[in-house]
Amino acid sequence: TLSDAEYRPAIHFSPRIGFMNDPNGLVHDGTQWHLYYQFDPFAPYAGRVHWGHATSPDLYHWQDQPVAIDQTPAGEAFSGSAVMDAHNTSGLFPQGTGGLVALYTRAAPERQSQYLAWSTDSGLTFTEYAHNPVLDLQLSSFRDPQVFFHAPTQRWIMCVALSRDHQIAFFGSSNLLQWTELSRFGPSGITGVDYECPNLVEVPIEGGKTAWVLFVSINPGAPQGGSATQYFVGTFDGTRFVPESDTTEFVDFAKDFYALQFFTNVPSGNPVSIGWLNNWQYCQETPANSWRGVMSLPRRVSLEPDTTQRLKLIQQPEDLTPLRGTASDATPPSRMDAGSSWETPLPASAAHEVRMSVEIDAQPAGLPPGDKGRSGRFVLNFLNSNEETLSIGFDAFTAQLWLDRGKLKGFSHPFFTNSFSAALTPDQRKITLHIVLDKCSVEVFVNNGQQTGSALLFPATPLDRLRLSATGAGATLSHFELFPLKQTVR
Ligand code: FRU
Repeated sequence: TLSDAEYRPAIHFSPRIGFMNDPNGLVHDGTQWHLYYQFDPFAPYAGRVHWGHATSPDLYHWQDQPVAIDQTPAGEAFSGSAVMDAHNTSGLFPQGTGGLVALYTRAAPERQSQYLAWSTDSGLTFTEYAHNPVLDLQLSSFRDPQVFFHAPTQRWIMCVALSRDHQIAFFGSSNLLQWTELSRFGPSGITGVDYECPNLVEVPIEGGKTAWVLFVSINPGAPQGGSATQYFVGTFDGTRFVPESDTTEFVDFAKDFYALQFFTNVPSGNPVSIGWLNNWQYCQETPANSWRGVMSLPRRVSLEPDTTQRLKLIQQPEDLTPLRGTASDATPPSRMDAGSSWETPLPASAAHEVRMSVEIDAQPAGLPPGDKGRSGRFVLNFLNSNEETLSIGFDAFTAQLWLDRGKLKGFSHPFFTNSFSAALTPDQRKITLHIVLDKCSVEVFVNNGQQTGSALLFPATPLDRLRLSATGAGATLSHFELFPLKQTVR
C-alpha cells in the first residue's frame, strides 16, 4: 500500500489527522464557505465526535480551522447544520447584528436531542445555548437536524431523522429556539436499519421551474451494501413533504457517497452539496495510519426529466477550470476501430481530469441469434506497471456503464466491492464522461451529470497511464481532454 501522504487527495478535503465522516454545517456566511465535519481528532477511527472545521473562498481551497464544537459531558457533537441568522430571529446576537447558528445532535448513550450553538466570530467558535436541548423527544434515535429558512411561510424548517422508526420529522420555528412539529414522512423508499442525515432542498428544473427533493441517507442495508443516499422528488408547502412517487432513486451508482448535505445561504441561490466519499462498511479499515475520511467534490445539483418524464437528479462538480494546468497535448485518434487502443502517460500531477465524448458504432443488423450477446465497448483504463487497473467503460449495445476498482492491490475487504454499474438511456450509443481521479478517490459524471459514481481507490502503486480501447465495435471520439489539476488542499 501507499503512505498516508500518497493517498491524500489534492483537491478533495480530508482531515490532517484523525477520522472524518459526515459534512456538517455547510453554510456561506456572506464572505466565505464553511465546511464543518464529524471529527475524532484523536485517532483515525469513528468516535469522540467533535465538529471539525475548514473554510474556503471557492469550495476547493480549504483552510483548516480549530475544532468548532466539542464533545461535552452531555454527549458527542453529532451531525447537524448551520444557518445565517442575519436578522437575529433568535435574539441571541447583540441588537442590530446577526450571525451563524448551528443546530446539531448531542448523542449520549440513551438520548439523542437537538442542540443549538451560536457564533459571534463568523463561525470560528460557538457558544452553547444556555437552555439546550432546543428539541428533545426523549428518544435514543433522533438525530441529524437540517435547518433552512422557508421564505413563503417566513419560518425556519428543521428536518430530522427518527432513525430507527424510518421517519423524517419536520418542525417549524420563528426563532430557531422553539420548535413545533409540522408533519412526518415515511417509512418510505429503502429503509435500511437507520434513516440518517435528511436534507430537504428546493432544486431547479432545467427550464425555470423547481421541485423539492428530500434526501435520506440509510445505513446499513443499502442495495449495494452498507450506507447510501436516496432521494424523493415532490412538493413542500411549508408543512408537509409529498413525494410524487413512492419509489426511490439513489444519488450515486457506486457505494462511496453518503450523508450528503446542502449549503445554506448560497450567494447564487443554486443548490450546492458535498457528501462523504465513504461507506460505513469499511471506512475504519481503509489503509491509513494517521487520517481517514474524504469529502466529495462540491457539486451543483439540478433536476431533469428522463425519457419517462420522471424528474432525476443531475450532479456536476463546481467549476474546475481554475484548477486546470496545461492540457495534455496527447490526442487519441478520433476514429478507433474494434480491437484498437491508444495510451498516454498521465501528466505529472496529483489529480487528473478527463472529459470525453464517444459514440460507439451501431450493432450490425441481422446477427445470427447466437451472436445476440455481443458487446460494443469503450474502455478507459488508468494503469501502472504493477499490473493495476482502474477500469471505467461503457457498453453501447446494452447501454450500461461500469466502474471497476477490482484490479487495484492496496486494499481488500469483504465489503470493499470491486465493481459498480449504471443503466443509461436505452439504445444510447453516445456517452460523455467527466472523470476526476484524485489519489484515493474517483468521481465519474456521466452524460453531464445524469449519473454519478463515487469510489474510494487504493492502488498499491500510483496510477500513471491512461489507455483507451474499443472492443467489439468501433468508436468515434468527438471530444477528448486530459488536464492535470492543481493542488488546493494541504
Ligand atoms: C451518519 C451518522 C449520523 C450521526 C453521525 C455520527 O454517518 O451516523 O447519523 O449523526 O454519523 O458521527
